[in-house]
Amino acid sequence: MLLLESLELLCMAIFRYCFDKQVRRDDSIVSYTGDNLLGKTMIGIYFSGTGNSRYAAEYFCREYDKETSVYSIEDGIILTAINNADLIVFAYPVQFSTVPKIVRDFVTNNKELWKNKKVFVIATMGLFSGDGSGMLGRLLESCGAEFIGGLHLKMPDSIADEKALKRPLEKNKELVMQAEQKIKESVRQLKDGHPTQEGMGLLYRMAGFFGQRLYFGHKTKEYSSKLKIDKDKCVGCGKCEKLCPMKNISIVGQKAVSGNCCTMCYRCINKCPKQAITLLGKRVVEQCGIEKYL
Ligand SMILES: Cc1cc2nc3c(=O)[nH]c(=O)nc-3n(C[C@H](O)[C@H](O)[C@H](O)COP(=O)(O)O)c2cc1C
Ligand code: SF4
Ligand code: SF4
Repeated sequence: MLLLESLELLCMAIFRYCFDKQVRRDDSIVSYTGDNLLGKTMIGIYFSGTGNSRYAAEYFCREYDKETSVYSIEDGIILTAINNADLIVFAYPVQFSTVPKIVRDFVTNNKELWKNKKVFVIATMGLFSGDGSGMLGRLLESCGAEFIGGLHLKMPDSIADEKALKRPLEKNKELVMQAEQKIKESVRQLKDGHPTQEGMGLLYRMAGFFGQRLYFGHKTKEYSSKLKIDKDKCVGCGKCEKLCPMKNISIVGQKAVSGNCCTMCYRCINKCPKQAITLLGKRVVEQCGIEKYL
């Protein structure tokens, strides 16, 4: 854990040094030059496994204007809501420095929706993503949206069955408070017409690619068939079946059974009352959810 934190600090220091140089060379990286954003109809949308991205979208939108509506991409009304909006704040959890397949499919299956929308992307992450906001922003741009800004938020790690990024409760609470401060500042800049540009630009992209995608990016290319459910622990309560955004789990003979279309959101793993579900790791180390850290 200490080693990872030190490595992160070192990477961030090198990255910041290089990034500052690039910003001085290229002003377009730090100032949005489009028309005034005030007066646009804004909504927040999100996909979230354990609540971090939902919290970020709601906090951001509340700070911007408390009347702003926020929707999950799982809500029935989502397509209409996007259709009626001009400015969309889109929050999602980074997976291996890229976009979860469910989010990619949502964007590309509704390609026509994004034309001429201004989009601000919030990427939440456990440690580091490089170009988390850029990955989704560029995809939206390829569907006709205007990617106006990005924000990266370090938040509690959602991978319940890996201990590498587990932090004490107080540290996780502190991370959420720091994220709130970062959101406040980002909202202020958006209102000033200069949305934050985190995760956009070449250096961020290189950091995302060489830092993670090159080695692990393939893991999110397809839905996963690797979810494991321990039949001895499972009591057939059905919670995982209800929660899964992919309808990937069904109860058969009073036991949960996994299909092969898991988007690795970790919702079921973090919520199973018997800690019977795992995916990347072999056992549940710590279950998390944003409500524990507020
Ligand atoms: C499969 C998977 C892969 C992840 N990959 C990364 C990563 O590459 N970098 C990172 O900083 N966090 C990574 N995380 C951590 C999550 O991005 C982070 O905890 C996020 O805030 C969870 O948001 P949510 O509660 O909205 O799902 C990963 C989480 C999962 C489940
Ligand atoms: S939530 Fe856990 S105990 Fe309940 S059905 Fe699913 S795997 Fe079984
Ligand atoms: S099976 Fe679990 S981890 Fe996979 S998509 Fe469904 S809720 Fe998420």
